[in-house]
Amino acid sequence: MINFADVVVGLAWGDEAKGKITAQLAATRAHTGGPLYDFVARWAGGNNAGHTVWVDGEKFKTHLVPSGVFYGVKSIVGPGCVLHPESFKAELDYLSDNGFDASLVKVSPNCHIVTDEHIQFDKEKLAGKLGTTGRGIAPSYSAKFARTGVLAKDVLPQSMIWDENLFGTVLCEGAQGIWLDIDHGLYPYVTSSTTLPYGACSIGFPPQKIRRVWGAAKIYDTKSGEDPRFPDTLFENELLLKLADLGGEYGVTTGRRRKVNWLNLNMLISAINLSGTTNLVVSKCDVIKELGEFRLFYNDDLLFFNNLEDMCNFITAKVTASCEMISEIRYSSSPQEI
Ligand code: IMP
Ligand code: MG
Repeated sequence: MINFADVVVGLAWGDEAKGKITAQLAATRAHTGGPLYDFVARWAGGNNAGHTVWVDGEKFKTHLVPSGVFYGVKSIVGPGCVLHPESFKAELDYLSDNGFDASLVKVSPNCHIVTDEHIQFDKEKLAGKLGTTGRGIAPSYSAKFARTGVLAKDVLPQSMIWDENLFGTVLCEGAQGIWLDIDHGLYPYVTSSTTLPYGACSIGFPPQKIRRVWGAAKIYDTKSGEDPRFPDTLFENELLLKLADLGGEYGVTTGRRRKVNWLNLNMLISAINLSGTTNLVVSKCDVIKELGEFRLFYNDDLLFFNNLEDMCNFITAKVTASCEMISEIRYSSSPQEI
């Protein structure tokens, strides 16, 4: 039995700096001097995700491997994930080449395999229409639920398979974001898995064990891939294009330019309540400050603020009034710290 689980969840359409939060938490020392967490685990998705993690001032990118490995914590790819063996092995090599202990990464025996056929189908039939990442995610989950899928335990070497029981403390690393959730996103402009914190229980613990939910938000909205709420006309807005450039809004996985819009505060409030976020981190405040324009949508109006402080105070006031589970709000102006 575990003591507790903390969950990191994205409160928008992915790319809200979950990797940064996970890495910061994984690096946190317990009062014993050792790491606070015994495990860092992913519960959903595959290498459609792209996480940017900074270690000692150096930038690393991962797609499937949980970020705990950067801090010497055992890292588990959970049974709810899907895994493309060659891409996974390439990521392990990347870790080893950079001096990290890749043997800390283990794959749940029931994790499903993404085959080359899945990738081909995704690229040919889905990527153009839905703007998927083309990583074979939907076809792999389709096979899983049709019960024709292939399991990691039948394909990967035994040395990569996780054969322990969970114990102690677990940090659950979300992938994608709430509005890409298969049940709560704008179907079919979603991913094929559960991005909400209850999905984390699939790693192997009951819901009562969730202690904190860290909600990752950004001070403006972005979307990579198709979504009618992010029309192509956003690419014609000079100010938003400037914001995109200042924020480096290109996909870690696909390199595609992300569509950028002002924060929709009502959607953020819904996401906080749906996820049960207790600790909110609003990132990229430095980017909006550099832009020098402080705007957000609230109740269908575009509101203008004089400075970052006024804008953050407004967000804090509305979130505090509408979200009863919130206990802490942080505004981050650093790509490395929360
Ligand atoms: P899929 O997960 O590759 O099937 O893509 C479905 C949708 O989710 C597309 O709009 C993708 O751009 C989006 N998506 C999937 N993973 C991520 C991510 O990690 N960050 C941002 N968007 C993502
Ligand atoms: Mg990402």
